[in-house]
Amino acid sequence: MLPSPGQQPIQRIAPIALDFQATTPCDPAVVAAMEPWWELQWGNPSSRQHRLGLTAAAAVSDARERLAHCLEVDPEQVVFTSGATEANNLALLGHARAIAERRGRPGHLISLSTEHHAVLDPLQQLRREGFRLTLLDPGADGLIDLAQLEDALQSDTVLVSVMAANNEIGVLQPLAQLGALCQERGISLHSDAAQAFGHIPLPIPALGVDMASLSGHKLYGPKGIGALILKPGIALQPLQYGGGQEQGLRPGTLPVPLIIGLAKAAESALADREERSDRLQRLRNQLWQGLQQALPGVVLNGALAPRLPHNLNITVMGVNGNRLQSKLRSRLQCSSGSACSAGRPSHVLRALGRSQDEAGASLRLSLGRTTTAADINGAIAVIKEVVNSLSNQD
Ligand SMILES: Cc1ncc(COP(=O)(O)O)c(C=O)c1O
Repeated sequence: MLPSPGQQPIQRIAPIALDFQATTPCDPAVVAAMEPWWELQWGNPSSRQHRLGLTAAAAVSDARERLAHCLEVDPEQVVFTSGATEANNLALLGHARAIAERRGRPGHLISLSTEHHAVLDPLQQLRREGFRLTLLDPGADGLIDLAQLEDALQSDTVLVSVMAANNEIGVLQPLAQLGALCQERGISLHSDAAQAFGHIPLPIPALGVDMASLSGHKLYGPKGIGALILKPGIALQPLQYGGGQEQGLRPGTLPVPLIIGLAKAAESALADREERSDRLQRLRNQLWQGLQQALPGVVLNGALAPRLPHNLNITVMGVNGNRLQSKLRSRLQCSSGSACSAGRPSHVLRALGRSQDEAGASLRLSLGRTTTAADINGAIAVIKEVVNSLSNQD
C-alpha cells in the first residue's frame, strides 16, 4: 500500500544477505560482456552462411577457449549445458548407459549420501535401469577417505561420483586422492563442481577427474548456463537428439549471451580468487567465533577445514527450527539447507548424524563478494537475539 499524503514511508531495513551459495547476483562486468549479444549480435552460431551467424560462432568459440583455459583443459572438452543439474544428468546417465551398452550389462556405481539431489536423483534413475548403487556415508566431519572408497569398489564398478565442495556444509572432498585411485583402477570419476568452481583451485586434469559439472550462477554469472567438462574420448550417450550441436552430445541452439557471460564470470572469479578467499575466510572465521561466544548451544556442521572459505553451517541445539527460521527471515537471508531442498530436513545433516530436529535448527550461512565485517557483526547480533528470545519463550 502507498503511504497517504503527509505520511512518512515505512523504512524497511534490508535483511543481511548470507545466502550466496544458493545463487549470486550477476557481476556488472558479466552483464556488460553479454549486452551486445542479445539485440545487436543476435545470430545463431550454427548459421555459417552469413556474417551474423559467423560472428556468433566466433564469439562462442572464443568463450569456450577462455573457459577451458580457466580449467586447464582443451576447448573441445567443454560441453555447454543449462547448468550443473543438466551437466550431472548428462555425465551420469550418459556415461553409465554408454558403458552398459558396451559391456552388454549394467554395472556398479559409487557416490556419497551427501551429494546434491542433482546427482542423487539421476543415480536413482540408473538404479531403476538395473545398475547397483553404493552411497558412502561420510564421517561426522562430512568427509570420506580413500579407504572407504577402496572398500566399496567391486569388480564391475564403472563410475564414481564425488562432489568437489558440498553445497550445504562446504567441506572439500579429497578429490586428487580419489582421482588417483580411480585412474589406477580404470574407473571413471565424475565430480559435481558447481560450488567449487571459481572459489577453490580446480585443475581438472591434475585432479584425475574425467567429468566435471559447472554452473554459471554460483560464480556471479548468469542463471541457465553451465558446462560439462569431459576427458577426451570418454564414452557418453546424449540425453537429447537434435541439431548436432556440442558434438551431438547436447543438441540445441547455443545461448550465445549466456555462454559469453559464463566465460567472463569464470575469468573474473579466478582473477582475484586468492585475495577474495582470504578475506572471506577471515570473515567466516569471525562469524564462527562470534556465534560461539554468543550462543552456548551452537555446534558446527562438517569440518572447519578443508572447507569452502565462504561457508559456515551451524546447528543451534535445543531450539525449535521452524520458529528460528521464521523469526530470522525478515532480518537475515540464509538457508536451512540447500536452496533446492524446499523445506525438507537436510539429508546432508542427517547423514552427519544430526537428528531431524537438529537438522531443522540448522543454518547455512554463505558469504559473498559484497559481505562486510558489519554484515558479520549484524548477523551475530540478530542470531543471538532471536535464539535468546526463543529460549526465553520455552
Ligand atoms: C552442488 C550443486 N550441484 C548442482 C546444483 C544445481 O545447479 P544448477 O542450478 O546450475 O542446475 C547446485 C545448486 O544449488 C549445487 O549446489
